[in-house]
Amino acid sequence: MEITRGFAEQVIAAVRSCKEIMLGAFTVSEKAGAFNLVTTADTSVQEHLRGMLEKILPRAWFLGEESPEYRQDGTFWVVDPIDGTSNFVRGMRLSAVSVALVDRGEEIFGVVYNPYSEELFCAAKGAGAYLNGTRIHVSGRDFAHALLFTAFSLYEKKYAPACEAVLKELYAGCDDFRRLGSAALELCYLAAGRGELYFEMRLFPWDWAAAGVIIREAGGVVGTIEGECLRHDRPVLLLAANSVENYRKLKTTVQKYVPELPYRF
Ligand code: IPD
Ligand code: CA
Ligand code: CA
Repeated sequence: MEITRGFAEQVIAAVRSCKEIMLGAFTVSEKAGAFNLVTTADTSVQEHLRGMLEKILPRAWFLGEESPEYRQDGTFWVVDPIDGTSNFVRGMRLSAVSVALVDRGEEIFGVVYNPYSEELFCAAKGAGAYLNGTRIHVSGRDFAHALLFTAFSLYEKKYAPACEAVLKELYAGCDDFRRLGSAALELCYLAAGRGELYFEMRLFPWDWAAAGVIIREAGGVVGTIEGECLRHDRPVLLLAANSVENYRKLKTTVQKYVPELPYRF
């Protein structure tokens, strides 16, 4: 399927239209325990996008975080209505709407939008990656100068010790690390040259699918410890880097502490 300029503009307009909902009033409840929250804004943004995206491409089905359906057939939207919900409820202004279009197993279009900073990252397969209309590229930094984005498996804390071991080894050999609280934004920051490495133990397709195509189109590498073929019907251990060389080093370190995926779905 070809992504035309008109199609991209319609999707971007739909994503931008979520700003009003995100900046409005909302209530918070616990989705699965004290640290896995959901707000009325998450569900409102998801349903708003479902309606708009269905009109733009009626044949595509809809995979949204707040009512997931684990399949990966045909053409489908992958939506995280608010990535960085914990930041959102705390008023940190570091959260994003993430929308990807997957066709025959491959992400072909992605949009990640932070309504607070008005930064909108997007990419269509084969057409480059953009931040607010300006072409972006990954940085050329080597491992010693690399900034790592990572997290400690907050929704499955039993994996935190392995994440900490990976961080300890990577930190000794690279520049520094950040934990921003929005995987989609961290991955887009990597695409824009603001960081070089990304590791997270357990990410769902809505967290990474849009940013995945944005990183690839910006010249970076995205994959899992299992290989480069990314699945959309279960969580993955996600790795990303600005270069093949940095990706190999990252993967070697992760495999040392996580020789195989510690979960099945
Ligand atoms: C979470 C954020 C966070 C990442 C988690 C995600 P949510 O998404 O992206 O940075 O560490 O793994 O689940 O729950 O805020 O949509
Ligand atoms: Ca998310
Ligand atoms: Ca979310």
